[in-house]
Amino acid sequence: MNKQKTKRILLIGAKGMLGRDLLKILRSSNGTDSLENFEVIGWDVDEIDIRQEVSTLSKIESLRPDIVIHLAAYTDVDGCEINPDEAFRVNAEGMKHVAMGAQACGARVVYLSTDYVFDGEKKEAYVESDPPHPLNVYGQTKLKGERYLQERVEDHLIIRTQWLYGKYGKNFVSSILRQAREKQTLTIVNDQAGSPTYTVDLSKAIRTLIQHNSRGIFHVANQEVCTWYTFGQAILKFSRIEGVSLIPISSKELSRRAVRPSYSVLNTQKMRRETGMSLRPWSEALKEYLSTSP
Ligand SMILES: NC(=O)c1ccc[n+]([C@@H]2O[C@H](COP(=O)([O-])OP(=O)(O)OC[C@H]3O[C@@H](n4cnc5c(N)ncnc54)[C@H](OP(=O)(O)O)[C@@H]3O)[C@@H](O)[C@H]2O)c1
Repeated sequence: MNKQKTKRILLIGAKGMLGRDLLKILRSSNGTDSLENFEVIGWDVDEIDIRQEVSTLSKIESLRPDIVIHLAAYTDVDGCEINPDEAFRVNAEGMKHVAMGAQACGARVVYLSTDYVFDGEKKEAYVESDPPHPLNVYGQTKLKGERYLQERVEDHLIIRTQWLYGKYGKNFVSSILRQAREKQTLTIVNDQAGSPTYTVDLSKAIRTLIQHNSRGIFHVANQEVCTWYTFGQAILKFSRIEGVSLIPISSKELSRRAVRPSYSVLNTQKMRRETGMSLRPWSEALKEYLSTSP
């Protein structure tokens, strides 16, 4: 009998905010999905510590996945400024180790990167070919990860995204809702612009890009632009929270450790051209998220 080898997708960072939604979406099938015959394996730091070169390589090699989706990262942007060595070990070297493992078994690699590879000085939406110039350690280490991947694995897909929120992690939406329960006045930065992106929508885009065998760099985010302040206003409005005032402030007033780009909007036309898909406006996604999440 001609027994076909089971195809495997290995998702690293499966317990993170994006990882949990992506795992669910990859495992769900609508009957026409070209990925439905793949077995999807989710690993996180308990199963694979990407800082460790030897064990990362041997674990990936022994699983022999066809596709590795690499989401694991040190994502605390201010924490990366305090612990730059650890940020480099996880975000840059971690990607290198995963790429080496994938290279050894001929797997395709999908890597999640960030708008923070840009400095925000362009003042219009960034396309994939724009030169990166990160302002903070997180952006620098994620960019190094991109470079390590490009050098090692020809069949790679780098997806840059931004301002994520979802059911399974601490994020801006959960933080505003929590603060609105505790205080009557909230101060929010109004001089950084971007596009809030829902992890469920991003997961569907990742699946689509994989199905299209897309290669190279792609920018993926929900459509339309806001500031953290206007995003905050929408969160309160759509949640029907009254009696809480929002006060717009500047990034200087907030004075966080990591400098953030003032305008890191991503142009997502390339994904639309290649797959016919573009994500809905962020406000529509936010409404759905708030109406379906407890
Ligand atoms: N969140 C955003 O706004 C945003 C924006 C742009 C790009 N991205 C990128 O999107 C991806 C997913 O982001 P996310 O917000 O879902 O991140 P997340 O919730 O922080 O998830 C990352 C996962 O990686 C794990 N991890 C950390 N160190 C590891 C290690 N040494 N070995 C193995 N696993 C390790 C974390 O475990 P612990 O929790 O136990 O540390 C966590 O489960 C990341 O690559 C991130 O850089 C995120």
